[in-house]
Amino acid sequence: MSAPVLLSGFRPTGRLHLGHLHGTLKNWVRLQATYRSFFFVADWHALTTAFEHTEGIAQSTREMVADWLAVGLDPERSVIFRQSAVLEHAELFLMFAMITPTPWLLRNPTVKEQARELGLVTSDDDSEMSKINFGHLGYPVLQAADILVYKANKVPVGLDQVPHVEVTREIARRFNHLYKPVFPEPDALLSEVPKISGLDGRKMSKSYNNAVFLSEPPKDIDAKLSRMMTDPRRKRRNDPGDPKDCPAYQSFHKIYCTPDEIATIDAGCKSASIGCLDCKKIMIKHVLADLEPIQARRREIDAKPSLVDDVIADGNRRAQAVASQTMNEVREAVGLV
Ligand code: TRP
Ligand code: SF4
Repeated sequence: MSAPVLLSGFRPTGRLHLGHLHGTLKNWVRLQATYRSFFFVADWHALTTAFEHTEGIAQSTREMVADWLAVGLDPERSVIFRQSAVLEHAELFLMFAMITPTPWLLRNPTVKEQARELGLVTSDDDSEMSKINFGHLGYPVLQAADILVYKANKVPVGLDQVPHVEVTREIARRFNHLYKPVFPEPDALLSEVPKISGLDGRKMSKSYNNAVFLSEPPKDIDAKLSRMMTDPRRKRRNDPGDPKDCPAYQSFHKIYCTPDEIATIDAGCKSASIGCLDCKKIMIKHVLADLEPIQARRREIDAKPSLVDDVIADGNRRAQAVASQTMNEVREAVGLV
């Protein structure tokens, strides 16, 4: 038996930040050692909501893949590619669209929430969902095609993506039952991921303008983290606080500091014997040390202007070889030969 297949994708968001590093990337780098892995840029998925703003997609794709390589995704080991370069995804999406009942899509909680956040719908009614575009409503079906065209067994994703993996399993089951068994039923791989807050205490996100990017100059990272929100009770230097109410501590000290440092900080915060700036300095030192090798690799990558495009082109070819094999089986199973 060959190694199980793992696949995950990301919309082209451009520069990645510390939330991505701890939420996703370190996990991917670890997993690529065990699985036959596919990591791809979901540029068609970007069109489900950003079809009016396509100008940044190509550059965001390169920027994101450069960060993937910098954190340690290994293009020798893993297939790193771009969704829209492998047309088999679109063909399988079309086949799946034919066998997917619309109610499976209307009730998808993640699509609903996204539509609400974007102001496309005003309530949680299934009927409201008929206002969104066909491709937006159907993107979990495209996602099923992304996963199943490589017969992936494991899909590392965040909690919000679990409904899409569930739809993927339902589509695989239905296809196998209607025609013949072609697809595995993949599992979502949920890992224990720390919640990373941004500078203002909300979830770290580029769109909130509160992110610390992996490729930022160290002095900017230092400056940003130095003004990160702490326990609001510590308005003045002498006001005691509690690390459990401190976004900086919960996101970063907790991950990065040694047990000794944690003990000192805990006591120092509660007795107001340490100031927030000094306290954050302890954590910032670790963050910068963690990013140092990533930034060094990123500089090497940037010094070779065609490297990222070459990696993607090679990945596209390797992905396509697998996907076209699956599509032969699919056409044969359906009877389109
Ligand atoms: N929908 C995912 C997101 O918005 C990206 C994605 C597309 C994906 N296809 C996938 C993730 C397949 C895992 C597997 O982040
Ligand atoms: Fe947070 Fe440290 Fe300030 Fe306490 S002392 S509120 S843990 S930054």
